[in-house]
Amino acid sequence: MSDKTYAPSDDFVKNANVDAAKYDEMYAASVNDPDAFWGEHMKRLDWIKTPTKIKNTSFDYHNVSIKWFEDGEINVAANCVDRHLATRGDQTAIIWESDDPNVDKHITYNELSEQVNKLANVYKSLGVGKGDRVVLYMPMIPEAAYAMLACARIGAIHSIVFAGFSPEALAARVSGCDAKLIVTADQAPRGGRATPLKANVDKAREHCGEVQTLVVERTGADVGLKDGLDHSYNALMANASADCPPEPMNAEDPLFILYTSGSTGAPKGVVHTTGGYLLYAALTHEVTFDYHDGDIYWCTADVGWVTGHSYIVYGPLANGATTLMFEGVPTYPDAGRFWAVCEKHKVNQFYTAPTAIRALMGQGTEWVTKYDLSDLKVLGTVGEPINPEAWNWYNDVVGKGNCPIVDTWWQTETGGHMMTPLPGAHATKPGAAMKPFFGVQPVVLDPQAGTEIAESPCEGVLCIADSWPGQMRTVYGDHERFVKTYFSDYKGYYFAGDGCRRDADGDYWITGRVDDVINVSGHRMGTAEVESALVAHAKVAEAAVVGFPHEIKGQGIYCYVTLMEGEEYTDDLKTELRNWVRTEIGPIASPDYIQWAPGLPKTRSGKIMRRILRKIAENDYGALGDTSTLADPSVVDELIANRKPD
Ligand code: WTA
Repeated sequence: MSDKTYAPSDDFVKNANVDAAKYDEMYAASVNDPDAFWGEHMKRLDWIKTPTKIKNTSFDYHNVSIKWFEDGEINVAANCVDRHLATRGDQTAIIWESDDPNVDKHITYNELSEQVNKLANVYKSLGVGKGDRVVLYMPMIPEAAYAMLACARIGAIHSIVFAGFSPEALAARVSGCDAKLIVTADQAPRGGRATPLKANVDKAREHCGEVQTLVVERTGADVGLKDGLDHSYNALMANASADCPPEPMNAEDPLFILYTSGSTGAPKGVVHTTGGYLLYAALTHEVTFDYHDGDIYWCTADVGWVTGHSYIVYGPLANGATTLMFEGVPTYPDAGRFWAVCEKHKVNQFYTAPTAIRALMGQGTEWVTKYDLSDLKVLGTVGEPINPEAWNWYNDVVGKGNCPIVDTWWQTETGGHMMTPLPGAHATKPGAAMKPFFGVQPVVLDPQAGTEIAESPCEGVLCIADSWPGQMRTVYGDHERFVKTYFSDYKGYYFAGDGCRRDADGDYWITGRVDDVINVSGHRMGTAEVESALVAHAKVAEAAVVGFPHEIKGQGIYCYVTLMEGEEYTDDLKTELRNWVRTEIGPIASPDYIQWAPGLPKTRSGKIMRRILRKIAENDYGALGDTSTLADPSVVDELIANRKPD
């Protein structure tokens, strides 16, 4: 933790949407009278029926219920597209930068409107209507945005599955929401290689049944469309009408489901609804990035994650912004790609993940300095804590000391930014998420007592005391799980699963997850998921998975594996298990290290002591703490003796 702070320049502050005084005033208003504050800010959206009720929420464990703008009616696609046509129909809505550095495309709001209307009609022709679920398994192409907005237009609920997930993981998510349609592409080019998306859908359908599929012709590869089951995107779009009136939706109708990992069980379907989510995504996009009309904004996330939902598509388009969508990876064709794209498209706001910064930092500064980055105004990070070294490199080498860095802490569950410095209002500190966004009331709790710690500095678990419009409403099909996961450990609060520190100035620093969720390259992963993939292998009896510090990925996946009686512990089997997990979940869950563990440390009641396994993986076994409750303490010595070499 460094004491140095970085204040925005006077010029920046002068032009900022929100300066320090305005932040203080708006923040106070937002928590003192949420009804008045959000009742005013909801006017940034076009409502079909203006809400008269603003906030109706309860965090009471016995009655968790979250409703915002509950009697309002609105359509998200109309807000992201139609209402801009009169004033900015010819303005670029989406800049698409392909995996191939020689290919890009500008899509105006008029063009976006035409595509979304047509696709909405295609959906209808396939029997998809209001309330039906549509799974998207897509490359980063404009059609992914069309597919989202077309769902919103007719009131269908999308559930995007990241294209890096395996057929098995895809099948589970298709069945989980009982999808009526899958939208995919023939292939997804990334980093010069093509992921066979349609072939993956074919494999998934062996598990989840014959769900009809719309296939976008991205590369034109022959992927074998089955009659009556698979539909060509080009063929259906060619005949579709470009007029599809937006469906009036209640503010609390679901907009999308997005599966995310928790500390226990299978991934859960996070449900976001219509009015509150869109308002929160739009306001945070404008305020956090200090977005001004005419700016070119680029978020490097994938639409398969929440960051892509809120900050590539919904927030920017609701604001009539120009949003850049990138199909490729930061290191293809070389490590200068991000900066080449910034120069080429004159990017003003750039938003990425610490893992990407760390990876590029290792490649040397010349990859950055050879490009003209003078259009950059604001830099953002998201997904995991950023180490000060990476922060400083981002600030000095990329931002040339001129671009405020917004370190945005939030989650799939929160819909939008929860804590972040505002670029024109706050002097930033490397590694600090700093201040709550409007309407967000963070508290630091004593982890054992569950009581609020009032004084600063302090450290504890991070909870939120009251609702904000972007909050998730439930777990799809399982409200009890929603209540149990987020509202039962600390009664009366939303429990985020993260720990934090509040410094003497009252600024917040996120210290990382306090549960069994790990963060690998900014991708959230439940250790339980990797464990259940491992034990699904016929030769594996038991597995325990923990995170360990990884220079680039933030955290790596460390697996302790016990084999079935009589099985042989070989290197070949380690490779087989690694590949097995990749097919069960996807390459992002690939184990970084597998350690054979003929015995696991357990309490006498048979509970695996993960705390000890974490310490061994972190190479911190000098401080194992109390091991006296172990059934067989010698197991620990054996694990230490055979731990991963440094
Ligand atoms: C972590 C991503 C520190 C945190 C938007 C959270 C962060 C989880 C930050 C959510 C940040 C996200 N600083 N940690 N700026 N942003 N996290 O659902 O542990 O994929 O709980 O949402 O990422 O991950 P998710």
